[in-house]
Amino acid sequence: MARRRIIAGNWKMNKTPSEAVALCNELKDLVKNDAVDVVYCVPAIDIVPVAEAVKGTNVHVGAENFYIEDKGAFTGEISAPMLKEAGVEYVIIGHSERRDIFGENDILINQKVKKAFASGLTPIMCCGESLALRKAGTYKEWIARQIKWDLTDITADQVKTLVIAYEPIWAIGTGETATADQAEEVCKMIREIIADLYDQATADAVRIQYGGSMNAANAAELLSKPNIDGGLIGGASLKADFGQIVNA
Ligand code: PGA
Repeated sequence: MARRRIIAGNWKMNKTPSEAVALCNELKDLVKNDAVDVVYCVPAIDIVPVAEAVKGTNVHVGAENFYIEDKGAFTGEISAPMLKEAGVEYVIIGHSERRDIFGENDILINQKVKKAFASGLTPIMCCGESLALRKAGTYKEWIARQIKWDLTDITADQVKTLVIAYEPIWAIGTGETATADQAEEVCKMIREIIADLYDQATADAVRIQYGGSMNAANAAELLSKPNIDGGLIGGASLKADFGQIVNA
């Protein structure tokens, strides 16, 4: 089954609103590719100007985070209806930086996945192991557990539209990329977990990205693997290289 490739930038805490617009303009011609879903997941304050800057192009807008309530006394948070009205279609959930620095656990991540679907946002749901777990050889069990927890009470029809990002923490922002075979091993396992939890049709439909120091030089090899349907890109999404990844 042919899955549509999805290349998403995760800008993290980079780019002021004016810098964000400048980056959109710089990348506009470089990211043209009708065969690929291109997404910019940007800081909350950049969402409105970025949505305006990419209007009429093939770029979709994503958020990096949100909270599970629609409104109320949640100082500092941003809600799904706010994102929707601003033109957001995708939202990153469970990034390792949210888990490690901001203490998000799998219970909250599962609530966010549910809320995103209920609100018409497509989750880019992240999983991945630390260097310690990789070295201990228990990374597969860890990732399987993350996925089961994070997908509790999510239906097969929802999972068919889900994006899962496999991001080994030891490869994020370190310049150390997983080899294409290491990335494929885990992405294939994730698809098997989805087949076990749901069914083969759901496993065939879900899109799985690799993330962790993906760049213009290594993207083509990673993306050539049968179970890697795209990338979630941090550092290289902030420069012209991103266009080369989209067209790799
Ligand atoms: P990186 O980040 O490409 O800078 O390693 C990826 C991510 O954290 O999503």
